[in-house]
Amino acid sequence: MDFLDPQIQQYAEEHTSPENGVLAELADYTREHIHLPNMLSGHMQGRLLSLLSRLRQPKTILEIGTYTGYSAICLAEGMAPGGHLHTIDINEELQPLATKYFAQAGLTDVITLHVGNAREIIPAIEGSFDLVFIDADKSWYPHYFDLVVDRVTKGGLIIADNVLWSGRVLDEEKDKRTTALDAYNKKVLADERVQSLLLPVRDGLNIAQKIV
Ligand SMILES: C[S@@+](CC[C@H](N)C(=O)[O-])C[C@H]1O[C@@H](n2cnc3c(N)ncnc32)[C@H](O)[C@@H]1O
Repeated sequence: MDFLDPQIQQYAEEHTSPENGVLAELADYTREHIHLPNMLSGHMQGRLLSLLSRLRQPKTILEIGTYTGYSAICLAEGMAPGGHLHTIDINEELQPLATKYFAQAGLTDVITLHVGNAREIIPAIEGSFDLVFIDADKSWYPHYFDLVVDRVTKGGLIIADNVLWSGRVLDEEKDKRTTALDAYNKKVLADERVQSLLLPVRDGLNIAQKIV
């Protein structure tokens, strides 16, 4: 999943500000007790999400794919005063853990965790978004972009995770998820409403800024 030489990765980690105590505890707990812990954004990507959010200072954030809540807490670090973060996950079993750590981070009042299918929940959330983080079922990424792009404010960001899919986007024969992720990257690049940057950080982050 990591494209960097392990020693360079380690050096970069060592020269990146540490995550706070709540995030470190959540990451440790997730790695020890939760299925598929590599789904968690982790230290470097978490700091990047936090930085992008702090630069943008969003009033409203939409996250598609909460998992144990790590990336939501990172994104909330940059939210404008009075802002709100909506995060959606289809797995109800994760709700108590994410809710516990949102409380521990002092974010109970500013995060709403919606349990259910994002494709049904997104249209039911009112208003516009200043930052969207897409990190759920890969086959639906192009659809998620279509669902949110007109609702993202000018200057707002649509960030999508895992867009290099461990390098499988280069395969000649692509499975369904790889085909969708490749289609996502091409769709975002071709869309004149956004400017995009595909960063080979961790498993690939596609960062698109709404310019109209
Ligand atoms: C990669 S994990 C999210 C990781 C999290 N953003 C982080 O960085 O810590 C993907 C999550 O998407 C959720 N998911 C998958 N399909 C979904 C859907 N249709 N609607 C909502 N959530 C979904 C899964 O249950 C899983 O928890």
